[in-house]
Amino acid sequence: MASATDARYGQKESSDQNFDYMFKILIIGNSSVGKTSFLFRYADDSFTPAFVSTVGIDFKVKTIYRNDKRIKLQIWDTAGQERYRTITTAYYRGAMGFILMYDITNEESFNAIKTYSWDNAQVLLVGNKCDMEDERVVSSERGRQLAEHLGFEFFEASAKDNINVKQTFERLVDIICEKMSESLDAADPAVTGAKQGPQLTDQQAPPHQDCAC
Ligand code: GTP
Ligand code: MG
Repeated sequence: MASATDARYGQKESSDQNFDYMFKILIIGNSSVGKTSFLFRYADDSFTPAFVSTVGIDFKVKTIYRNDKRIKLQIWDTAGQERYRTITTAYYRGAMGFILMYDITNEESFNAIKTYSWDNAQVLLVGNKCDMEDERVVSSERGRQLAEHLGFEFFEASAKDNINVKQTFERLVDIICEKMSESLDAADPAVTGAKQGPQLTDQQAPPHQDCAC
């Protein structure tokens, strides 16, 4: 039986043998910062220089292994254009993780980070397009400071050159797992039924571990 904690942090589907947990993750940020590219790099290991702005919202699924658990990631790619905000924010509900993204060559996208909101979830701040050093306008230090101010971890990444893409997703999954473990530990197993479910432990997989998918 799924506990309240499970329902909040991820569903354990005992009937489906294909995964132990499902995590809903959203990528948000201004238009053209590279959200779709980031997701395509992670899910399909592909990149295209052409810009096709996302209409509304879309998602991809990827299954990874962490701590001996098969975790199905449902990753939602939101449209950054302002006119879709009402639609995209409707999908925030139930998300366990957010990737807040800006473009290091675009000041406006950095300033916009503060205009986004997120539900009670784990969040990472990502400065994308770090391959474009010559056009950089947001220093790494400012990114780090903003992340610290907001209480998030921070990565600079490049969907184009495949820098820190997998690491971002894996770190987000790890902090969701840590949070879930803490909640299960804190809860009374007799009430939550947590004892029946698999416990996610703190034993860390080696960094940059290749996933088997
Ligand atoms: P919306 O769907 O409108 O919200 O935009 P988006 O955030 O999904 O941006 P998208 O992924 O479509 O990328 C916008 C443009 O930036 C495209 O031309 C991409 O090829 C380019 N781009 C994305 N990531 C990178 C990167 O890491 N480096 C470089 N140099 N270009 C990138
Ligand atoms: Mg897009």
